[in-house]
Amino acid sequence: MNDDSDRDSALGEQHSPTTTSITSSAYAYRYELGRRYHAFEAENYMLPNDDNEAERLDLQHHAFRLTLGGALYLSPIPDDVQSVLDVGCGTGIWAIDFADEHPSASVVGIDLSPIQPNEVPPNCSFVIDDAEKEWLYNDQYDFVHERMLCFGIRDWSRIFQQTFLHLKPGGWIECQEACFPPRCVSNPLLTPEDSPYLDWSNRLIRAASLIGVDLTAPRSFSDHLQNCGFVDIRAHQYKWPIGPWPKDKEARKLGCYVKENMFDFLQAASLALFTKVLKMSRSEIEVLLSEVRKDINGKERFVLSIGVWCARKPLVGEHGNNNHALFSWLPTPGALAVTPEPDDNLSEQQHLDQE
Ligand SMILES: C[S@@+](CC[C@H](N)C(=O)[O-])C[C@H]1O[C@@H](n2cnc3c(N)ncnc32)[C@H](O)[C@@H]1O
Repeated sequence: MNDDSDRDSALGEQHSPTTTSITSSAYAYRYELGRRYHAFEAENYMLPNDDNEAERLDLQHHAFRLTLGGALYLSPIPDDVQSVLDVGCGTGIWAIDFADEHPSASVVGIDLSPIQPNEVPPNCSFVIDDAEKEWLYNDQYDFVHERMLCFGIRDWSRIFQQTFLHLKPGGWIECQEACFPPRCVSNPLLTPEDSPYLDWSNRLIRAASLIGVDLTAPRSFSDHLQNCGFVDIRAHQYKWPIGPWPKDKEARKLGCYVKENMFDFLQAASLALFTKVLKMSRSEIEVLLSEVRKDINGKERFVLSIGVWCARKPLVGEHGNNNHALFSWLPTPGALAVTPEPDDNLSEQQHLDQE
């Protein structure tokens, strides 16, 4: 237990994941650079939490559903799953959809920001908390989900350890993350010197690393999961086309969503980080972002890898069968007919070795 008073007040008096009571400290937003940022544990997360960002997150949610063929998750959990936690739930859209589709489940979403709606299904609730602190609840979950949290997490091994501790034996964890940097599939030799988008992406990775955030962290997720004792570890890889260039109709639709999401993300991700960490002025950032947009709209075709990791906590008495064969990327279930990269069939480790 820590003694952070902000955190205690943000959690309400009961320290219970069923409470939605939070005090004004969590609503004392900061307004900077023309955007609104959250106040609770203010330095921990540098993306805004305003309406524009909420719209972006909801659009991104639809991109994920399209990617997974309409599904919210890939883990083989039972339909009548009971207890579910969504870590870093954002607007709560995943938790709300999950609660609607699983009336048996009690779904709790936690986030640094109170940006979830008031009207939610009766089996869904939200708590304002920092997932990097000790989880104060004694609950044991059947399913723990986290999506697109890389900007907010410094210590992934601790997140995985806490998840392991708070899962029931046989329960599942699922992580859905983007793997930076994006790649150019039309010209794999394109360098950041020739591509404002790749240049921006490198700056983003570097600026984040200077404040302890590793945007390439998902590459180590399989290792983290294994080290914690998870079994049945599965890593699925998808490619998000950034723009409506794929021939396949569904993938083209996805490309539209992803490009719009990326265009909104460019400013959301850069403003606070590049001004505070890289000491760039706002006008320098806007000039860079305008070049990046031109690059994405230009002749080259970019993709962003999306990874989905599923893993199970062993049953009591079950010996860990950390199955290395499953660590390589599994084939994509076909929703995305994007131009394959020459190295598409490489294992995760081979991808790492190449970088
Ligand atoms: C990119 S958004 C993703 C939201 C949601 N998972 C989704 O996919 O729609 C990341 C969210 O994680 C939250 N977040 C970041 N770091 C966090 C932390 N340490 N503890 C709790 N929430 C965190 C942010 O406030 C933000 O709402």
